Amino acid sequence: MARLKKEIVPVAEIKGSVRVPGDKSISHRAAMLGALAEGTTVIEGFLVADDCLHTLKCLWHLGVPVRVEEAATQEGRQEHGSARVTIEGKCLSGLQEPEKVLDAGNSGTTMRLLSGILAGQSFTSFMSGDESLCRRPMDRITVPLRKMGAQIIGRQGGKYAPLAITGGNLHALYYRLPLASAQVKSALLLAGLYAPGWTVVLEPGSSRNHTELMLKAFGAELEASGKGTEKEVAVKGFPTLKAQRVLVPGDLSSAAFLLVAALIAPHGKLTIKSVGLNPTRDGIIEALQAMGAKLRITEKQKIAGELIGTVEVESSSLKGISLGGAMIPRLIDEIPVLAVAALFAEGVTEIRDAAELKVKESNRLAAIAEGLSRMGGRIEELPDGLRISGGHALKGVSCRSFGDHRIAMALAVAALGAQGKTVLEGAEAVNVSFPGFWQLLEELKGGE
Ligand code: S3P
Repeated sequence: MARLKKEIVPVAEIKGSVRVPGDKSISHRAAMLGALAEGTTVIEGFLVADDCLHTLKCLWHLGVPVRVEEAATQEGRQEHGSARVTIEGKCLSGLQEPEKVLDAGNSGTTMRLLSGILAGQSFTSFMSGDESLCRRPMDRITVPLRKMGAQIIGRQGGKYAPLAITGGNLHALYYRLPLASAQVKSALLLAGLYAPGWTVVLEPGSSRNHTELMLKAFGAELEASGKGTEKEVAVKGFPTLKAQRVLVPGDLSSAAFLLVAALIAPHGKLTIKSVGLNPTRDGIIEALQAMGAKLRITEKQKIAGELIGTVEVESSSLKGISLGGAMIPRLIDEIPVLAVAALFAEGVTEIRDAAELKVKESNRLAAIAEGLSRMGGRIEELPDGLRISGGHALKGVSCRSFGDHRIAMALAVAALGAQGKTVLEGAEAVNVSFPGFWQLLEELKGGE
């Protein structure tokens, strides 16, 4: 694919009241559970971005009728990257053997969660993805799914995709995750739907719990409890899942880029409506407030167990903070843009316990450290995090996205606050999670 080069010039003003596209994690899960349910699931605000479209295509190849309708409109405005999606559920037993290799593209969530479902099918499926995805660790799912009885072959003994999965006849598992991971936990819970009795997953910390909330909403028997920092989730096999109408909130992970852009702009005042604020995901709100951000949450409500609200921010003087431990899974995807905020803060910010960032869509510790250092930022890569010394002016340069959507958007936000023009190579990467990003940024610069 041709690499898109984007020129970004500094701006003094980021103003407006907007919505961001639907939550990526929730969109994937709604499509998958809709496929396994009885009846027609309607998903409002589904994220129409590359990652979630890969999930829909995989489901379609598994024999699930999927329809993407017109983009939803809110208050007369065209929504950026959200649509209504209808899924004709096939129940737990109605998926068909795919004739083609399932392509998960760049999406770890598609590959890992779908592996859990495929482990429950008595047929054989092949699944692959792009270069980045084929470099990411899959043994974290292949090892426990094999323990449940699935036969899985992958490169290097099942460590990497492409994967071949022949499932069926699973047995329940009691499994302690070596690290907090929502994708692994979810893969095992989805496989647990196909195992008689209770499948139990223990996590050393709390990763996002969208799968648990949605399984309950679709009618599965599920119990979640906490033992100190350890969390336990149990799901009972062979439920009858009932189709739902799912309302997907805006993605806080996408909103985070705009929030930081407004916070560091000399004249920033931004409202983002209907954003997901699930407490397992809202670490960025807490971190920005600890840095001194003028940030308010209003209009809070709960829909199907998911907390949703409006986030308002304005330009703020930020200060450095230290982050680590249980906070990290709550803001893991926001660390690249948090590093940008830290460069505009007084003092030092240290982020530890975040070695997982090395195995995301890119090595995010290395990628963000390289990009921001090129701009003149004082940022040091640590074995498990970043040390950032803020308060030093950034300059516009040539930099690259490493094909990673969140690196592209974090560098774009930094470029808005730099002196001079930045040229970002690989700017098309934003389409993975936030297709309207460039357009929305233009609108906010105009203060609409
Ligand atoms: C996701 C879980 C997280 C996150 C990823 C999306 C999900 O990864 O980083 O972008 O939708 O379940 P982990 O599996 O490491 O928690």
